[in-house]
Amino acid sequence: MTGGAGAVPARGFVRTLRANPVVVRVAAIAAVGGLLFGYDTGVIAGALLFVRRDFGAGPLAQEAVVSVLLIGATVGALVGGYLADRLGRRRTLIVAGGVYVVGALGCGLAPDLPTLVGCRFVLGLAVGAASFVSPMYISESVPPPARGGLTSFNQLAVTVGIAVAYLMNFALKDVPGNWRWMLGLAALPGLALVAGMLTLPETPRWLAEHGRDEPARAVLTRLDAGYGDADVEREVAGMRSGAGRRVATRDLFAPRLRRVFLVGLGLALFQQFVGVNTVIYYAPTILEQAGLGTDQAVSQALAVGLTNVAFTVLAILLLDRVGRRPLLLGGTAGLGVALLLLALYFGVGALRDSAPWLALAALLLFVAGFAIGLGPMFWLLISEIFPQRIRSRAMSTVTVANWLANFAVSATFLSLAGAATRTGAFLLYAFLTVLAMIFFWRRVPETRGVSLEEIEARLTRR
Ligand code: BGC
Repeated sequence: MTGGAGAVPARGFVRTLRANPVVVRVAAIAAVGGLLFGYDTGVIAGALLFVRRDFGAGPLAQEAVVSVLLIGATVGALVGGYLADRLGRRRTLIVAGGVYVVGALGCGLAPDLPTLVGCRFVLGLAVGAASFVSPMYISESVPPPARGGLTSFNQLAVTVGIAVAYLMNFALKDVPGNWRWMLGLAALPGLALVAGMLTLPETPRWLAEHGRDEPARAVLTRLDAGYGDADVEREVAGMRSGAGRRVATRDLFAPRLRRVFLVGLGLALFQQFVGVNTVIYYAPTILEQAGLGTDQAVSQALAVGLTNVAFTVLAILLLDRVGRRPLLLGGTAGLGVALLLLALYFGVGALRDSAPWLALAALLLFVAGFAIGLGPMFWLLISEIFPQRIRSRAMSTVTVANWLANFAVSATFLSLAGAATRTGAFLLYAFLTVLAMIFFWRRVPETRGVSLEEIEARLTRR
């Protein structure tokens, strides 16, 4: 159904994919950026045990190995915004893929601790840039009826990356030099990202915005977005609306954009402030503290990783059917309940004795709620709500906020739990979850099935 005049866009996620399989390839390749994001953030928990042994690293050095990636990601998100504007989305992902390869090989071959820390920083640069350029690339390329699900391929890849990292930690635990393999093997998907992106086109929106209408038209038709010929003209005209106007980050605070920017910023901060990475990075630690042996804690952490994947798949299937808001609100409510259960579990001694399974059940509920709501929704919504000419700057800015918040929460969790007890820590996250719900209810728009240009018109008109 490539571009026959008057063709009607297919409705619904699965039907759109059937009519238009090429967009699956586009989304799947760009999502390799997300796979590396998940793998590189997830793998270190297990690898760290062996790095400690080989290099005799103390607590400070270990913290450096873990958190330097988050700092690199913050810088990468900042630079990525500039590159995605200047070079285009596609070339930025190719550069990020190259940096992934260099960073992974550097980590795997590192002769000493400072080199390892330096290479984790380099890796972080790619993680930060790809974390938002991958979803932006997909969202700008695929047709509206499947945009929610396809853009969330990226988040699915993040969760698969985390689960594979947990598995590798487990599978390689007795192999000599194992941490070098765990870290170095990530060069392969890095190469796949470079090779895959070389076969894909630049997004039609970036092309149109840069005055390149002819290639923009060609790409729109090739992606078979279900547009008729007449619509391709109209779409390209709409995409071109901001062409040639220079934008600066301070434009985000202009009255017309401020509200939309605050929605993105709120989503960025709350995605981390509900405490997701205390669970993702410390699941085995939490389970161990709940009374499990180390082996059991590690294998149950795997259950956390798989639940994350499974519920992200569910989100992908539902997003373009029920919409963004119901999943965001429902999922966040679920994770709020889980936080209360965790607080209760660690607070009431009798409960720990009579219901030892409760800690794992609560962790799984937490991850399921996150995976069906805030996990995919943050990255999806920020790729939808910002006007074209400022999308890359805006996404980069709120992504920087997301990485900084991630750093703040994961760096303080263990000491917070020490100072305020685990019950206190989980109650704090539960309180922040309530604030998040109020904010989402009042501020987050529904974007299901609407073109990016129409979303822009609606949000900036208000
Ligand atoms: C978040 C990460 C988190 C991951 C868990 C992502 O959307 O940005 O911080 O580790 O989801 O699945």
